[in-house]
Amino acid sequence: MQAAAHSVGSQKLRDVFANAEKVLVVTGAGVSAESGVPTFRGGGNTAVWKGMPFEVISSAGMLQRDLPAVWEWFNYRRGLLRSVKPNPAHQAIAEWQNQYKHLSLVTQNIDGLHQAAGSRNVIELHGSIWRGRCFDCGGLQALRELRIDDDVPACPSCGGHLRPDVVLFGEMLPAGAFERAAQEAGDCELCFVIGTSAVVYPAAAIPEIARAAGAYVVEVNPELTPLSGLCDEVLTGKAGEVLPLIGKS
Ligand code: APR
Repeated sequence: MQAAAHSVGSQKLRDVFANAEKVLVVTGAGVSAESGVPTFRGGGNTAVWKGMPFEVISSAGMLQRDLPAVWEWFNYRRGLLRSVKPNPAHQAIAEWQNQYKHLSLVTQNIDGLHQAAGSRNVIELHGSIWRGRCFDCGGLQALRELRIDDDVPACPSCGGHLRPDVVLFGEMLPAGAFERAAQEAGDCELCFVIGTSAVVYPAAAIPEIARAAGAYVVEVNPELTPLSGLCDEVLTGKAGEVLPLIGKS
């Protein structure tokens, strides 16, 4: 006989999960870890590319200095992502969106796996690896179909150079993205913080805003983070294993 799925979290969480109308979900690289996407910092390591820490290759400075190198790094990452699939964490969040009157999803991830799992209106704080943006006309170009080899891709509208439509270190977030996320945080009753080391701002401020506004804040992460102490509840474990069990009686 198959063991009954046990639930996770407190009775309080089950009650809030059952009765909330406005829910905010904030995710980071950890939510995609079980899909095979490497995180940046978890486990004490940081990603390195050709001897360069990712903070260097993924920076505004590198964009000015060596645009082809930045494209090579993002081509490599897009190559990795082509074969990965959403995991049960992405699927649980997409299902939650159908369960609540209002669920907003704010992600730091650029991998598009939330959308691939069926989540809608995802607020992408750090952009998307599947888009390019023109330096000259600002036009956006979908990259999924675009064959990209060594050269810097050209903008189909004006011929200008494209850059990855991703927020690099030293750059501002996309216009309005943080404001929308902060608005949702100030308005929600329940806030999940899933798979983020909570060290990169302003993204890490979103759950703090929700907490200050009186929301019930729940962290899901195999490790403690600087945010753990601020949360009403910490569920220690992998998102793909924990999320499907939340709210189950
Ligand atoms: N389930 C949940 N959390 C996990 C899992 C998992 N299966 N595996 C790892 N984690 C946690 C790690 O413990 C760590 O706390 O996910 C977190 C990943 O942290 P980071 O790699 O720092 O990723 P993130 O917080 O999203 O980074 C923020 O920094 O590098 C920039 O722009 C990049 O968006 C990124 C931002």
